[in-house]
Amino acid sequence: MTNIVAICGSIRKGSFNQAVLDAAAELVPDGCKVTMVPLDQVELFSEDLEDDLPPGAQALKDAFDDADAILIGNPEYNHSLSGVLKNALDWLSRGSLGSPLRDLPAMSVGASPGPVGTARAHAHLRVVAWTIGMRLWPGPEVLVNNCKDKIEDGKLTDQGSRDFLEKSLKNFADWIERLD
Ligand code: FNR
Repeated sequence: MTNIVAICGSIRKGSFNQAVLDAAAELVPDGCKVTMVPLDQVELFSEDLEDDLPPGAQALKDAFDDADAILIGNPEYNHSLSGVLKNALDWLSRGSLGSPLRDLPAMSVGASPGPVGTARAHAHLRVVAWTIGMRLWPGPEVLVNNCKDKIEDGKLTDQGSRDFLEKSLKNFADWIERLD
């Protein structure tokens, strides 16, 4: 079973990005499962905390012990990643957590009420992923633009978006299999 650990860069109740992750959990191909890991208890990163990990960072670390891949809900804040997401990635990049993202296959999805979706946040994530050593899937990112028309009551209802997400997850899973 391929364990895909999912984190969402929004901790907002009713988050559109969380809704896309929830849809992904339904649509992953057979042989894959999605494990949601909330970020709302992850402390703000400080090097001062690394010698004695606080509970939120420890729980984040533990969630990656048996991760085969990471799925990232990537909201766009000011044309970039949210602070919540960057904070988690900063923790996970560190040797104090065993650098669990190094060489880990990764895929990002995003939703925005705006017309260009989360294209700019995805582009910025590529820079961070390259720096950390995550193996970010080179395929097209799933971005749900104008998402207020496509997500209702926390559910991704737009069939075109669901089809694209499902196809992307299949391609991602196939790509993971091909990686050494
Ligand atoms: C935003 N939003 C936003 N949207 C976008 O498409 N491009 C952007 O640059 C920004 N910038 C931005 C900054 C800040 C501080 C906030 C709070 C919001 C809108 C954003 O996409 C919208 O609030 C989403 O609903 C956030 O994702 P969740 O919480 O629904 O997952």
